[in-house]
Amino acid sequence: MATLEIRDLHVTVEADNATKEILKGVDLTVKQGETHAIMGPNGSGKSTLAYSLAGHPKYTITGGTVTLDGEDVLEMSVDERARAGLFLAMQYPVEVPGVSVSNFLRTSATAVRGEAPKLRTWVKEVKEAMQRLNIDPSFAERNVNEGFSGGEKKRHEILQLELLKPKVAVLDETDSGLDVDALRVVSEGVNRVRETGEVGTLLITHYTRILRYIKPDFVHVFSAGRIVESGGAELADKLENEGYEVYTKGGASA
Ligand SMILES: Nc1ncnc2c1ncn2[C@@H]1O[C@H](COP(=O)(O)OP(=O)(O)OP(=O)(O)O)[C@@H](O)[C@H]1O
Ligand SMILES: [Mg+2]
Repeated sequence: MATLEIRDLHVTVEADNATKEILKGVDLTVKQGETHAIMGPNGSGKSTLAYSLAGHPKYTITGGTVTLDGEDVLEMSVDERARAGLFLAMQYPVEVPGVSVSNFLRTSATAVRGEAPKLRTWVKEVKEAMQRLNIDPSFAERNVNEGFSGGEKKRHEILQLELLKPKVAVLDETDSGLDVDALRVVSEGVNRVRETGEVGTLLITHYTRILRYIKPDFVHVFSAGRIVESGGAELADKLENEGYEVYTKGGASA
């Protein structure tokens, strides 16, 4: 079983000619087959964690390690991370002008699988996955994320997730901007992937809404750049009732 291990991760960002430390020692282990939720207030560094795992150039790793199956992720290029089995869905997905969803998916699948999927089975695979997610077939010919509504972007992410079958998936705010129906469809997609037992999922959110559909095995509270508490699904209920104030006031913050 593959394991993503984050140890004492420190990350800075350059803003207004100053260096700001955003992540202050993150420790987290996600194993294939497990579902983890990271919850925390706005600005606590959740997306910074996702970007750092993705290898975004704006984020500088100043300390700590990230390994997948013992391999150093931080040494890998963005492509190598995907090939190693890491899937990262960002809070604000970028548009890819001139590249259709259909081509994008096939190129990604080729990169991840190490060979181009057979065209006949591939077309069928994509069609079925799109149907399950209630994505209109015409989407295949549209440019990636160009003019997509918020909900369409998130469905497209889950489409990628289902087709690429990574070892570990990091989903940043997959629930944001979804209406109730879309939330259900997207959650069902995540649950299908989960049921294979072969994907470890890290769900980043600040609402417990999505956790009504996806029951996490572990919940972690993120505050001021690190994990300040971990527990089971019941911790999400506590957060729903009590909010984050107890973590952000004095004590837990850095
Ligand atoms: N590229 C950047 N340039 C400048 N500041 C940044 C950058 N990325 C993150 N930050 C700062 O780091 C802090 C953490 O931001 P981050 O987006 O990681 O928070 P978050 O927990 O994902 O918040 P939200 O719940 O609102 O999505 C914020 O103060 C933010 O302004
Ligand atoms: Mg965020």
